[in-house]
Amino acid sequence: MAKAVRKAIFPVAGLGTRFLPATKAVPKEMLPVVDRPLIDYAVSEARAAGIDTFIFITGPRNEPMLRAHFELVASLEAELNAKDPKLVTMLREMEPPRGSVHCVHQDRPLGLGHAVNCARDLIGDEPFAVLLPDDLMDCNPPALAQMVALHGKTGGNVVAVEEVPRELTRRYGVLDVGVDDGHMAEVKGLVEKPEPEKAPSTLTVIGRYVLLPEVFEHLALRQRGAGGEIQLTDAMAKMIGHAPFHGLRCGGHRYDCGSRVGFVEAQLAFAMKDDAMRDRLRDYMRRTSAE
Ligand code: UTP
Repeated sequence: MAKAVRKAIFPVAGLGTRFLPATKAVPKEMLPVVDRPLIDYAVSEARAAGIDTFIFITGPRNEPMLRAHFELVASLEAELNAKDPKLVTMLREMEPPRGSVHCVHQDRPLGLGHAVNCARDLIGDEPFAVLLPDDLMDCNPPALAQMVALHGKTGGNVVAVEEVPRELTRRYGVLDVGVDDGHMAEVKGLVEKPEPEKAPSTLTVIGRYVLLPEVFEHLALRQRGAGGEIQLTDAMAKMIGHAPFHGLRCGGHRYDCGSRVGFVEAQLAFAMKDDAMRDRLRDYMRRTSAE
C-alpha cells in the first residue's frame, strides 16, 4: 500500500520577472486574486488533500511576509475582535496549525528542481506533494485531493496535466503518453520545454505533483537542463520505468497566474463567483465590450 502523502512543498523563491514592478517589493505568491493571496489558495487546496506539513521554499526577501500572513499576532487579533469577531474567525480558519509551517531558503533561483531539493531533509523517506501557487486550480474535488487519491491506488508519481496548443509546448514539460483513458495518462517519457515540432504530445505538466522521495537522488546530481536551470522534469523523467507514473487531468480550470493574462482571467472568474459583485461586474463588462 502507498504511504500517505502528508507533506507539501511550495516553491516561492522565483523572481517573478513577468510581474515587475509589482513583484519588486511584494512576492508573486502574495498577489491577491480578489481578496486572497495566491499562496492562500494553494495552502487551502493542500489542506483539503490531507497535508499537515507545509514547506515554503523562499527567496532571501519573502519569508517575513509569508510568516506574517500565516501567523495571527495577538495585537491584531485584539483590534479585529473589537471591530468584528467574525474577522478573527476567518483568519484563524486560514492559519495552518502551529508548528506545521517551515521555511527553507533557496539562496539563488537555480530552477524548480533545485528549489524542491532544498526541502529534502524535511521530507525524508515519504511521498510528498509540490504545489506551484501561481497555478491557481479551480477544480471539484480540489486538484491535489484527486491526485493523492490516485496515488493511493497506483503508487508512484502523479502529475497534473493539461492539453495546450502545440505552439506553446516550449513553455512546459511535455508527456510522451502511453495508455490514456482520457482522464489518466500513463507517462512513458517527459521532455522539458520542447520546440513544437519536437514535442512528443501536447499534454503538459502543470503546477501540481505527487512525487516519490527517490526523486531527490536525481535532484542531488544538480544537472542543468533547459534554460541552464536544474529542472524538476529532468529528475522525474529518470524515474520512468522504475515506478508507476501517471498524468491526471483534474477537470475544472487552471489559471496561469504567473502570466498577466491568466492572472486577470482569474480575477474575473473568482469575482464572478461572488454574489455581491457578479451583477455589477457583468453590467460593466457588457458596457465596456460594446464600446
Ligand atoms: P516560474 O517559472 O514562474 O518563475 O516559477 P518565476 O521566477 O516565479 O517567474 P518569472 O518567470 O520570472 O515571471 C514557477 C514557480 O517555481 C518557483 C517560483 O517561485 C514559482 O512559484 N521557483 C522557480 C523557485 O522557487 N525557485 C526557482 O529557482 C525557480
